[in-house]
Amino acid sequence: MQRLSLTLRQDNVPLDLISLIKTILAATKEISFRVSQAHMSGLMGSTLDENIQGEIQKKLDVVANELFKDILLESGFVKAISSEEEDTSVAGNAVGKYIVSFDPLDGSSNIDINSLIGTIFSIHEAPEHMDANNPDMFKQSGDKQVCLGYVLYGPATMLVMTTGSGTHFYVLDRTHGGYLLVHRNVKIPEDTQEFAINMSNQRFWQEPMQNYIGDLIAGEAGVRDKNFNMRWIAAMVGDIHRVLSRGGIFTYPTDSKNPNQPHKLRLMYEANPMSFLIEQAGGLAMTTTGRIMDIEPTSIHQRVEVIMGSKNEVETCLSYFK
Ligand code: F6P
Ligand code: MN
Repeated sequence: MQRLSLTLRQDNVPLDLISLIKTILAATKEISFRVSQAHMSGLMGSTLDENIQGEIQKKLDVVANELFKDILLESGFVKAISSEEEDTSVAGNAVGKYIVSFDPLDGSSNIDINSLIGTIFSIHEAPEHMDANNPDMFKQSGDKQVCLGYVLYGPATMLVMTTGSGTHFYVLDRTHGGYLLVHRNVKIPEDTQEFAINMSNQRFWQEPMQNYIGDLIAGEAGVRDKNFNMRWIAAMVGDIHRVLSRGGIFTYPTDSKNPNQPHKLRLMYEANPMSFLIEQAGGLAMTTTGRIMDIEPTSIHQRVEVIMGSKNEVETCLSYFK
């Protein structure tokens, strides 16, 4: 099996970006270890604090965030970081070439049940003319990401990453401590019979989504003329990993459950990096009005509706909104 650094050289990734990627991966190896040791270190359960997203933080959310943030800021490679767990961006090296957005521990409701969680990261070039303290540096579309991916802390710790030359899967080999390539240029099947959505929100969806999911559930007896299966891991990293591995459609649609917050997933930390991986693998990543990666962000903690996965199924879903 090929080492990650060789794959990066084959994909012609610039040396300074390789150094940043290695820094990020060092952080993920540490988080992977801390997650596996959480019971012994008293790191299970919640803190008493709410993050900027209005969610109670788990102890491991805080630990993963601090680790990721410190390692990145100390590296000197980054001008600033922005995290789902931080109120605003945090300045690093004024002459750093890159900025990094991340969700240190996605799917944190899975922590206490020893289920799938992961770290999502996204790298953009730092605008030279802006101050390192300026969060507006992060207001760049997903299209401009230069490298992004996630690390899934599952039965195996896996890295899924792209630098724009295909989506590749790697596995953490604990015997030598590095990531090894297991699947180059992953391709998502264009058709699927599997969907992922939180069905308990059904009554809050817009009518076209109600109709679309209704037709999937009707299966062979309905207009789709085939049966569909449903999966919901409640961690986007886990659900997207399944979609990349064997196809499917994943959606967190607009809903009216909380009128002040029609969308759940975050553009910078979740939707953009996952969209890039999905598109590199031949899938689609959309909102009902356009491509996710075309969105020009207006705030760093912006949320967005998400419909992504197997190309033909995403198109079918969108046709209900026309
Ligand atoms: O980070 C948000 C998140 O945990 C995603 O990883 C996941 O897809 C979703 O929320 C789960 O939402 P729900 O709690 O509605 O199942
Ligand atoms: Mn998340």
